[in-house]
Amino acid sequence: MTEWQKTGWRRLPRVQMPDYADAAALAMVENRLASYPPLVFAGEARRLKAHLAKVGRGEAFLLQGGDCAESFAEFSADSIRDTFKVMLQMAMVLTWGAKLPVVKVGRMAGQFAKPRSAATEVIDGLELPSYKGDIINGFDPTPDARAPDPARMLQAYTQAAATLNLLRAFSTGGYADMHKVHAWTLGFTGAPEAEKYRDLANRISDTLDFMEAAGIRDEAEHTLQTVEFYTSHEALLLEYEEALTRVDSTTGQVLAGSGHMIWIGDRTRQPDGAHVEYCRGVLNPIGLKCGPSLTSGHLKALIQRLNPRNEPGRLTLIARFGAGSVGEHLPRLIRAVQEEGAHVTWTCDPMHGNTIKSSTGYKTRPFDSVLREVREFFAVHNAEGTVPGGVHFEMTGKDVTECTGGVRAVTDENLSDRYHTACDPRLNASQALELAFLVAEELSARRRDLGRAAAI
Ligand code: PEP
Ligand code: CO
Repeated sequence: MTEWQKTGWRRLPRVQMPDYADAAALAMVENRLASYPPLVFAGEARRLKAHLAKVGRGEAFLLQGGDCAESFAEFSADSIRDTFKVMLQMAMVLTWGAKLPVVKVGRMAGQFAKPRSAATEVIDGLELPSYKGDIINGFDPTPDARAPDPARMLQAYTQAAATLNLLRAFSTGGYADMHKVHAWTLGFTGAPEAEKYRDLANRISDTLDFMEAAGIRDEAEHTLQTVEFYTSHEALLLEYEEALTRVDSTTGQVLAGSGHMIWIGDRTRQPDGAHVEYCRGVLNPIGLKCGPSLTSGHLKALIQRLNPRNEPGRLTLIARFGAGSVGEHLPRLIRAVQEEGAHVTWTCDPMHGNTIKSSTGYKTRPFDSVLREVREFFAVHNAEGTVPGGVHFEMTGKDVTECTGGVRAVTDENLSDRYHTACDPRLNASQALELAFLVAEELSARRRDLGRAAAI
């Protein structure tokens, strides 16, 4: 294999990326981004990699979630806080249920570029380029808005920097203090999962009081008051990724400075393609979406390319097959991993294999299918003796109606009430919490079973 360069992807076939009409404008943006500070530091990416290695061994659990696509229009402190808050609540439920540390990774501060199933779409008889995320083009159905504009990369960088700044403040500035576990309760009074959450919050408060009374709280105080929160996005727009690539001065290794973890989408994972080429050279933890079309041969080739030194925590395989299809695909891919003797971290994205068009014309995801795919993911890992390391969701802290079902049932007819996503349908806060309780139950059942097996 040739020596890696950050520009090496340019020689290879690329898919899903825009063609910019104005080469001079593109070069200007790339040069500017290349002179800006990176958004994350190498030590942070390494630390996340170490956490993901633990996840792969079953010593921690990964919670990755956030918007399908971050948007320029919906950018506000409130929406960042609300998503962060739901993540904290979910993490609390999972930590309590699983008795495992939860590694928290937002689809935030960089999740702007979207792969699409078709390059164009027809709106009111007009054929337009598809919307590809705010970093590439605009959502409005006009030829002007849909033309790719490199200047959008600068706005995305600025928004990512401001988002990360607020996330860092929330993580360490007191907001994430576990003593505030009650204050994170969202405004969904009366829902059964809100009751369950309050009950859990009471138990956590009691535990903290007990620790204080027993004099064992002091050393734990820092851990209780802060969280580690990491960022991630799909590394789709390689001009942006390349421009934010930096050499880590302490090791000489190369960092994707755009986020802590980057992933390769299900449509851009060609082993000899541009996206895999870029990702193979950076030190960050890499995610790889694994859909039904991924062959065992391709997975093996990807493992060799992306993690030739078989470093634990480097590669997270994000299974997204769709409810009813996990049993057909996951076992064969688990076997391919085992044949390679590869260290990987498995996680479940129950969103992208379960998107349908509702009877009212909206793109949606039935909550039951989401839950079912998670259950199937756990069942296969339990049967194979491998580790179901985590979950990957599209959710928002807002009370949207984008996925149908859940205990406060959203119906096909309700979808239009508060359908705000810039791309795929997201779980709302109450659905996200319901899912966290389900995953916590799966994890605690698994813990009991493993305990029983060890005792025999
Ligand atoms: C996504 O995560 O938003 C996405 C497009 O996923 P996938 O590549 O798995 O379809
Ligand atoms: Co999506």
